[in-house]
Amino acid sequence: LAGAGLAVAGCREVAGQLLSSRLPLPRLFTVPLPIPEVARPVRPGRYEVTQRVAKAEIVPGTRTEVWGYGGTFPGPTFELRRGSAATIAVRNELPVPTSTHLHGGVNPPDSDGYPTDLVVPPGHHAHHGGHPGEVLHQGVKDYHYPVDQRAATLWYHDHRMDFTAPQVWRGLAGFALVRDAEEDALPLPGGERELPLLICDRAFEEDGSFRYPAAHDGAYMEGVEGDVILVNGAPWPVAEVSATRHRLRLLNASNARRYRLRLAPGGRFTQIGSDSGLLAAPVAHEEIPISPGERYDVVVDFSAYPVGSAVTLVDALSEGPVMRFVVARRAADDSAVPARLSRPPDRPPAVATRRFDFRRTEDVWTINGHPYRPGVPLARPRLGTAEVWRLTSDFHHPVHVHLAHFQVLARNGKPPAATDAGWKDTVDVRPYEVVDVLARFDGHRGRYMLHCHNLEHEDMAMMADFEVI
Ligand code: C2O
Ligand code: CU
Repeated sequence: LAGAGLAVAGCREVAGQLLSSRLPLPRLFTVPLPIPEVARPVRPGRYEVTQRVAKAEIVPGTRTEVWGYGGTFPGPTFELRRGSAATIAVRNELPVPTSTHLHGGVNPPDSDGYPTDLVVPPGHHAHHGGHPGEVLHQGVKDYHYPVDQRAATLWYHDHRMDFTAPQVWRGLAGFALVRDAEEDALPLPGGERELPLLICDRAFEEDGSFRYPAAHDGAYMEGVEGDVILVNGAPWPVAEVSATRHRLRLLNASNARRYRLRLAPGGRFTQIGSDSGLLAAPVAHEEIPISPGERYDVVVDFSAYPVGSAVTLVDALSEGPVMRFVVARRAADDSAVPARLSRPPDRPPAVATRRFDFRRTEDVWTINGHPYRPGVPLARPRLGTAEVWRLTSDFHHPVHVHLAHFQVLARNGKPPAATDAGWKDTVDVRPYEVVDVLARFDGHRGRYMLHCHNLEHEDMAMMADFEVI
């Protein structure tokens, strides 16, 4: 089975269908790397953000209509602190309904961004053909986040039923960083030496607007990939760095594209954290495979390169660049990556084993043979317990579980890769692979989802409810 999986993986490395841009591609490494603004609370613990249509200059010399939180793409970064609950009021001034999910958050079900729990723009009325159980909030919804979880790189994005892929493609995504005392006590690089990097791909029309296929175009059932790589919304950007350690919070926010990140002309990423927080100890990698939804928190030591040199973040899968760092100057560096980073929660024993098959069934993507049925849970784990979930697949499916964090136990019965370390919420299940994860159900009872984070697969029904009881 392992051999078959690898053979198939070898010829199916690209998960989606490539859409080409109809304008001249921007020049590499000319646009400076933007850093998303940090959201300011309107009062302690309360934020307000408006989803709106705006114009952005993404490809130099052109204007792109974006749908952004705060009118920007990416949206503002929310800085959250463990132990300080936050409310984010999301106001919708877009022409479409939305639902906001804080990916990786341990949040109550009514603030989790359920696909039919929608914020509708003012004046928008319930239309017929709505989904059973649909809840419509007029204009604005308060999302309540207890922030009772470890420091981690989270992100937020739209989660509207059947329309997540096109709405995220237009820009509805951003970072939310959780910090805590355990992390504060570490001498990790911070301030300007901590860079959140939201990586995604897009295609553009001649006039600079985003190019995306017509809704549910069967030709794009495998997923949509663009030919321009954006980091924080800028095409193949460049960032000047000092010859010191930098912390890079890598997020793959692409709809369908996977990457294998490397440094050219060579070098190492020291991984300090996974999707759900710091690792117990750092792990060095030459290559980081990152599928849609996943995060890798890494430190790169630019003192390993001569001042004046260029260090390019490249994708070994497409053999193309992602962005460039220019090592501009020497500087003092009192940061370090300690050998002991944190005390992540232990693995509890599993009380049950369940199996979820991610497959194509006729013309939809299914889990255990079912296209998504909102309100029909496929599993009822008990609060405070852990279960082994066996994930199998016929294609590349980055599987994301809401609420629960998990550890990868095995791939095809063999020990997981070094890059699978730590507590996670998203794992790439490769073609014909069997991935066992140990998932903990903590924090809240109620209705959540698991789904493929290839957003076209998700919209084409590869999602299921589970209910924590
Ligand atoms: Cu990032 Cu349910 O998704
Ligand atoms: Cu999938």
